[in-house]
Amino acid sequence: MSNSKPLDAWGRIELRPGDITEFDGDAIVNAANSSLLGGGGVDGAIHRAAGPELLAECRTLGGCPTGQAKITRGYRLRAKFVIHTVGPVYGGGRHGEPELLRSCYECSLRLAVENGVKSIAFPAISCGVYGYPMEEAARIALGTTAEFLTRHGEIERVVFYLFGEQAMSVYSEALSELGGMPGQRA
Ligand code: APR
Repeated sequence: MSNSKPLDAWGRIELRPGDITEFDGDAIVNAANSSLLGGGGVDGAIHRAAGPELLAECRTLGGCPTGQAKITRGYRLRAKFVIHTVGPVYGGGRHGEPELLRSCYECSLRLAVENGVKSIAFPAISCGVYGYPMEEAARIALGTTAEFLTRHGEIERVVFYLFGEQAMSVYSEALSELGGMPGQRA
């Protein structure tokens, strides 16, 4: 008998403190800028860990508009792929930022499905240099991801890598408010 209940999404979402470059699943999402030519923050960490071939491949992509995503190989990273997405710069929240941030998660997950990715790691997109308030960004990230997972059983695991105690508690709070139990790995 087919199970008409939407696929359990929250059970496939995990919060993990630490450095996303250590993720050993299929794909790591990078919080890039529209040039895709590297930067600081998580972008810098991913390029440092992946090595120079990552930048070489990024040069061939011709950049990426805000809210969209492009995929490359992972090179020296343990992950097979890097999905580069460009978050919105926060300007008060009335210039389409929520929709653009939602689109980053949706486009990254869609690219993951198209490439047979079963496990994927996200950083807190736009919550650093781009200044997005993490409380609101966490709800968008988790809500968009959970909604996508109810429609896509192919993705088995989504891990949110959170840099620092504050990020961990903000995401845990958002997760329990939205209905999932914080699945934090020790
Ligand atoms: N692992 C996981 N998360 C990290 C790591 C890491 N190694 N390094 C930083 N972070 C966290 C930050 O603490 C923040 O919460 O990632 C989140 C996103 O911050 P940024 O990396 O500054 O990304 P963003 O706010 O989206 O700004 C993008 O910054 O690095 C440049 O080229 C990038 O221009 C682009 C802009």
